[in-house]
Amino acid sequence: MWRVKSLDAILATAEKKSLHRSLGPIQLTLLGVGAIIGTGIFVLTAAAAQKAGPGMMWSFVIAGAVCAIAALCYSELASMVPVSGSAYTYSYAVMGEPLAWMVGWALILEYAVAASAVSAGWSGYFLGLIENALGFQWPALFKAGPAWSMNGFIPVADFSAGIVNVPAIIVALSVTALLVVGTTESARVNAVLVAIKVTALTAFIVLTIPVIKSGNFSPFAPNGWFGPEGTSGMGIVGAAASIFFAYVGFDAVSTAAEETKNPQRNVPIGLIGSLALCTIFYLLVAAGAIGAIGAQPVFGADGSAVQPGSAAFQAACSLADNSGRLVCSNEALAHVLREINWPVVGNALGLAANLALPSVILMMIYGQTRIFFVMARDGLLPEKLATIHPKFKTPYIVTIVTGIFVAIAAAFFPVGQLADISNSGTLFAFFMVAIAVMVLRVKDPNRPRPFKTPLVWVVAPLAMVGCAALYFNLPAEAMLVLPIWGAIGLVIYLAYGIRKSHLARGLVEVPELAADAPAGPVPPMPGAPAPGSPEERS
Ligand code: ALA
Repeated sequence: MWRVKSLDAILATAEKKSLHRSLGPIQLTLLGVGAIIGTGIFVLTAAAAQKAGPGMMWSFVIAGAVCAIAALCYSELASMVPVSGSAYTYSYAVMGEPLAWMVGWALILEYAVAASAVSAGWSGYFLGLIENALGFQWPALFKAGPAWSMNGFIPVADFSAGIVNVPAIIVALSVTALLVVGTTESARVNAVLVAIKVTALTAFIVLTIPVIKSGNFSPFAPNGWFGPEGTSGMGIVGAAASIFFAYVGFDAVSTAAEETKNPQRNVPIGLIGSLALCTIFYLLVAAGAIGAIGAQPVFGADGSAVQPGSAAFQAACSLADNSGRLVCSNEALAHVLREINWPVVGNALGLAANLALPSVILMMIYGQTRIFFVMARDGLLPEKLATIHPKFKTPYIVTIVTGIFVAIAAAFFPVGQLADISNSGTLFAFFMVAIAVMVLRVKDPNRPRPFKTPLVWVVAPLAMVGCAALYFNLPAEAMLVLPIWGAIGLVIYLAYGIRKSHLARGLVEVPELAADAPAGPVPPMPGAPAPGSPEERS
């Protein structure tokens, strides 16, 4: 049952079906920045402030550090196995099919739920823009989905923010439609959108840094490092677990490995470069936001710390006294600029977010369909899902199914909760990647590693500890989703994938076929198994 798909078989399949290799290091870094900068920094800065206060500066540092060490692990695997499918593919080669399935299943949380989160975040900016620039009032009931909490094991919905997020549905379905007709964003369009986002953040930094007041940084950590007793997911570390979302997306670079020139060199550059660039921007933006208008949390009527998005939080934010607070805004960065008397630039930043966030949604849905596609190619999902549209030449069934799922989640969950749920899946995937790097160092020490994780026996365990620490500081509801989702995944695997798997049925291309494959940039692997050797183990 713990069959693995050999690395050589994976590389042979990818080599035969290889896509055109056109991306260089700069485009790849831009691709990363395009996937990273989104709802996290534009919207969730407010939620992070509610959890940590000005101490969210540390939250950005902690989340960035965990991503940086995870990126070092990703880089080693992505440079060794430059194929699509990301953490799912690596796990298949290293830890066997059931765990690979679980990673693929968790990646649904990472990609599809992240797409929902970004759709809901986009909605906040869209509503803010039409209200502030056009004076148009959208019906309150259709502005946001309910917030969810658990009463024991019973989920309870709170409708004080709205019942359904209609703008989020519209943007999610529009992006899906674009993907179905085949508008995969070209590198040039991506570069333009990245420029728009970077310009917006630069303008924000330039206007806020000069008006920083040091008094706004104290009290620095009103909720401490881990939040007051009896709360979950609060404090500086709780905020780090949520704002982790702002950094997610750099691994999209690794999913483009098959389209990259000299992937062994360029994929690590793209991964680490995009992450480093975004970290610098985020720290400056956070400092500017806190220093310009303050970032103190609001408290419940009894003075207790309250989760962003909760009913008590909505009630606190509806008080006139709190209306100008950063933590109460659905469009954090635009709000800061309006508060410091740059309303036009605030609206322009809102417009930039409106234009650029859909590309993050597109990237996430695209990444999700890619992963489903690879899983269907392996027989773990019905092959029908991978059907290509006769006219548009896109995998339309899997795209439409994904888009509907994304739209429903975006409609009925608030952005912060969606981001936290997405983080739980992403942290699991990163954790598995860190294990995979170490296992492969032991199992296959001689395979060429164009990029080697430095100090792997320190860095990979640290990545595991970092991911686990963030996971256990998510709000309780988000933490609960991963095991429940995992259990559903296991049932589906046992009912379907375990029998239908191409590996189980002996349908996997064997390494010797690689000899027929067109020559490509992946160097032949020394030490590949002799022709005819069994390429699966059980
Ligand atoms: N990092 C991406 C965002 O913030 C997912 O929207």
